[in-house]
Amino acid sequence: MIITIDGPAGTGKSTVARALAERLGFEFLDTGALYRAIAWYCLENNVSHDDATRIVELTSTVHIRWEDARLWVNEEEVTEKIRSEEVTLGASRVAVISEVRDALNDVQRKIAEAQNIVTEGRDQGTVVFPHAQCKFYLNASAEERARRRFLELTNNGELAEYETILEQIRERDERDATREIAPLKPAPDAILIDSTNLKPERVLDKLEQTARKMYAPE
Ligand code: DC
Repeated sequence: MIITIDGPAGTGKSTVARALAERLGFEFLDTGALYRAIAWYCLENNVSHDDATRIVELTSTVHIRWEDARLWVNEEEVTEKIRSEEVTLGASRVAVISEVRDALNDVQRKIAEAQNIVTEGRDQGTVVFPHAQCKFYLNASAEERARRRFLELTNNGELAEYETILEQIRERDERDATREIAPLKPAPDAILIDSTNLKPERVLDKLEQTARKMYAPE
C-alpha cells in the first residue's frame, strides 16, 4: 500500500508523514531529502545549482540510499547536513531538471516496491505514484508556514527574520508550482487538508482515520 502526502514547504508534511508511518507500521519516505542530497552533492563538488549539465553528470554517478529515515550520499551520511538554508534553496533549483527528476523517481519507486510506505513530497500523488491507494494534499497559508519556520529556527537558537523567511517561502512556492515538469499541485483524487488552523496532532488523526479505512475497508 502506498500513501502519498504532497504539499508546499512548511505545512508540517514531514512530521505528519513520519508519525503516520509509525502509527501504521509503514516505511516513511521524505522525497525532498533526495533533492536535497543532489543539491548538497553539488556544493561538495563546487558545482553551481544552475549548471544543469554538470548536475546531470553528477546525478548519473552518485549513489543515494534512504533507509529508516536516514540518508547516505555515496558512503557519507548526510541526514542532518542537507537541512542548511543553502541546500534548501539549491534543492528547489536542481528539482527543475528533468534528468534529475527521472533518476530520483526511479529511486523512489524502488523503495516503494519492497514495502508499504507513506511518502511525502510535491509530485507523489500526481507523477511518481499516480496509482497510490490513498492520497493527501496538505496546505497552509504562506504566513502561517513562515511563522512556524521562524519559531523552529529561533527555538533552536538560530538568528531568523520573519520577513526574509516569508519571502523565501513565496519564492520557493512559486518555483515549485510553476516549473514545467511535475509542478506542485494536488492530484485530482487527493484529499485536501488545510493545516493553517490545525494542530499537527489533529492533522495526523484525520490522515490516520482515512488511511485505515482504505487499508482495511469494512
Ligand atoms: O520538502 P523539501 O523542502 O525537503 O523539498 C526540497 C525541494 O525539493 C523543494 O523545493 C521542492 C523539491 N521537491 C520536488 O520537487 N519534488 C519532490 N517530490 C520533493 C521535493
